Amino acid sequence: MAGMGSSKTTIALLFLIVCSVGPSAAVLLSQLPKTLIVTASAKEGEVLHAGKDKITVTWALNESLGASTADSYKTVKVQLCYAPISQKDRKWRKTNDLLKKDKTCQFDVIKTAYPGSGKHEYLVDREVPSASYFVRAYVLDASNTQVAFGQTTDKDKMTNIFTIVGISGRTVGIEISAGVFSAFSVAALIFFYVVETRKKNN
Ligand SMILES: *[C@@H]1O[C@H](CO)[C@@H](O)[C@H](O)[C@H]1NC(C)=O
Repeated sequence: MAGMGSSKTTIALLFLIVCSVGPSAAVLLSQLPKTLIVTASAKEGEVLHAGKDKITVTWALNESLGASTADSYKTVKVQLCYAPISQKDRKWRKTNDLLKKDKTCQFDVIKTAYPGSGKHEYLVDREVPSASYFVRAYVLDASNTQVAFGQTTDKDKMTNIFTIVGISGRTVGIEISAGVFSAFSVAALIFFYVVETRKKNN
């Protein structure tokens, strides 16, 4: 009898595990409500440089939805996402409606507690490669499951697309020689300044 009781417990536990894993494993973007209004300072066609330029992002709940919409909202995760033009022939960036397998959004802009609305200034990470992007924000509930979203682009991800120029290819060696070169330029400038002033004074 005791053995049967424990196997029932085991089954109940397994059921609980399956239930808690199940929903988060099967979130589809197409079924998420779009409740956030997201903006980015980077405008359509703008070119930004990784490691140098900044993007200010804002997010807010669409006011025309009921206040109770946000009851389960715990966290906001804002990300940089590849525009379709930069996904072509690159299966490592492929969009999948099943969010667990989606590779559209690979760079975190910010992850923060859901405070209703928010604003963040993001310095484009040096790891971000050259490509076209938009910004998307996911809302997560207490179990870290996506329950809503918002994005700076339209449904087809064609509007408000901006470009980031990455720094890959600009290797450390090149950066060092660029540094040496500019140090040399400064030295040359001083040299010629001194020569010119001497000429004038003579
Ligand atoms: C806010 O939500 C309403 C109702 O769903 C929708 O019609 C409207 O387009 C949304 N506004 C924005 C800016 O997304």
